[in-house]
Amino acid sequence: MIIAIDGPAASGKGTLGKRIAGHLGLPHLDTGLLYRAVGAHCLASGTLDDIAASAEAARALDVSALDPESLRTGALGEAASVVAARPEVRAALVDLQRRFAAQPGGAVLDGRDIGTVICPDATVKLFVTASPEVRADRRFRELAARDPLASYEAVLADIHKRDARDSNRAAAPLLKADDAVLLDTSALGIEETFAAALAIIEAARARAG
Ligand code: CDP
Repeated sequence: MIIAIDGPAASGKGTLGKRIAGHLGLPHLDTGLLYRAVGAHCLASGTLDDIAASAEAARALDVSALDPESLRTGALGEAASVVAARPEVRAALVDLQRRFAAQPGGAVLDGRDIGTVICPDATVKLFVTASPEVRADRRFRELAARDPLASYEAVLADIHKRDARDSNRAAAPLLKADDAVLLDTSALGIEETFAAALAIIEAARARAG
């Protein structure tokens, strides 16, 4: 069973993906980390504007060496969204994601284009969203726990900017697949989101027989 979870920045898809994978005993890939790692490499080597260098960094990516803690910063989210708009970078990461999805028993993948491009035949597709203000508030709380100088306004501005770039790019834009189920978590907590997602998955499983 392949479960595809897509949605905009800070919609809670990562937390949900991890939770679902744990519950079902499936491997989980947060595909945002791949783009963040490419962005981190380009920032460190001063090649963020260089399309060929970012595609090379994507081809050379060592998935086993990804460090989620160091990759989940605001600056790397922004750098990730810059390199993720390039078809050359996306193409270099397709096979790796499809191999992950094709593991025996299945997998849970979350990102922006899992249901539309990476796994169009996924068993279940969820499109997780929430209002920009709710997403900014969640991301702000995460950041404020580590950084006393974090600002809600700056986080909200970043969310608007990334939403616009991710949705308007030509290459695999953030888009709900026609057969994805929309899950608006604006008024839902983590437990309620998990319960709603599980109900959608069980229904799809029952339909698939
Ligand atoms: O956690 P958050 O939603 O802030 O970001 P993320 O999922 O780690 O993704 C960071 C950036 O990578 C996004 O803004 C997208 O531009 C890009 N991305 C993508 O294009 N395709 C994916 N499958 C995953 C992430």
